[in-house]
Amino acid sequence: MTILGIETSCDETSCALVSEGEVLANVVSSQIALHAEYGGVVPELATREHLRNLLPVCRLALTEAGVSPGELTAIAATQGPGLPNALLIGLRAAQALAFALDRPFLGINHHEAHLYSPWIVGRPPRADFADFEPNVSLIVSGGHTLLVHVTGELQHHVLGSTLDDAAGECFDKTAKLIGLPYPGGPEMDRLAEGGDARAFVFPRPLIAEANDDFSFSGLKTSVRYFLRDHPKILGHPQRLRDLCTSVQAAIVDVLVAKTVKAAARLGVGCVTASGGVTCNRALRARLAEACASRGWRLRLAAGAFCTDNAAMIAMLAERKLLQGHRATPLDEEMLPSWSLD
Ligand code: KG4
Ligand code: ZN
Repeated sequence: MTILGIETSCDETSCALVSEGEVLANVVSSQIALHAEYGGVVPELATREHLRNLLPVCRLALTEAGVSPGELTAIAATQGPGLPNALLIGLRAAQALAFALDRPFLGINHHEAHLYSPWIVGRPPRADFADFEPNVSLIVSGGHTLLVHVTGELQHHVLGSTLDDAAGECFDKTAKLIGLPYPGGPEMDRLAEGGDARAFVFPRPLIAEANDDFSFSGLKTSVRYFLRDHPKILGHPQRLRDLCTSVQAAIVDVLVAKTVKAAARLGVGCVTASGGVTCNRALRARLAEACASRGWRLRLAAGAFCTDNAAMIAMLAERKLLQGHRATPLDEEMLPSWSLD
């Protein structure tokens, strides 16, 4: 089976080829430089970029994989959630291709693809479901923060999610307050190296609540008040690093504590994490410590598969076909608010 996957839900145009679990090509054209000027994703610009880039990215992926369109078994695309017009570009292209080639089309839930992305491992990367086990999975990106109980392959339910800002959004918004360029998450991660996490104390919202939900907007507000009261910090490199480390520690503490609490309660021996914020080195290290000390297995999405990519879309589509899922009707619309449940 050889699947072409297309991802255009936000600001990455990506096409990938997956065959028998192996990622043959995963081409990602990022729009970060375009949106940086505006300090965040501008939906209209993202849509135009997807239109401009989709066919070249798709051609490149096919060439890299050495696959011709006629060899495709099925075509998959992100159907939701995401920016409506951005989704529409990839979805309609995939549906048109499926129609023209007379192949099945699969509309994929972006979060479900993140959820199974930690199972893509190795070089060349391939889906490794041989030692799959039930897990608690943390999905942390710029748009979403979700805790999910994965009871079996393609069987899962959402335990909790963010009530307001996502973890990545909190990184990006606080970084913006500090004056760092967009996207702020990687910048914070870089500056946090060499800072003191205990230099400043910020709230850990909902950390002790008996639920699996998150809330990050209060943390962002407390950083705003902190900067109002300590404006000179911005001109002091070491204090700035301390500030980034302290904010990062607050976000990471909440993510790790709530993930561990859910995993312990549900009695799973495996934790996974995916989404752009999973690139964060402090989060990766803290999850590794927490799991090692409890004897749990930890699967973190590999670097290239943390941020948005079409390999995870194609891989999930292949797993679904293997499990007998039916094709998505070609006239189905995009689902910008599609929930994982
Ligand atoms: O999954 P993703 O590529 O796109 C969404 O679906 O949102 O995630 C992007 C998010 C951004 O908020 C970005 O700042 C954050 O992931 N991010 C990081 C790091 N790398 C990316 N946050 C913290 N530390 C990082 N190293
Ligand atoms: Zn994503």
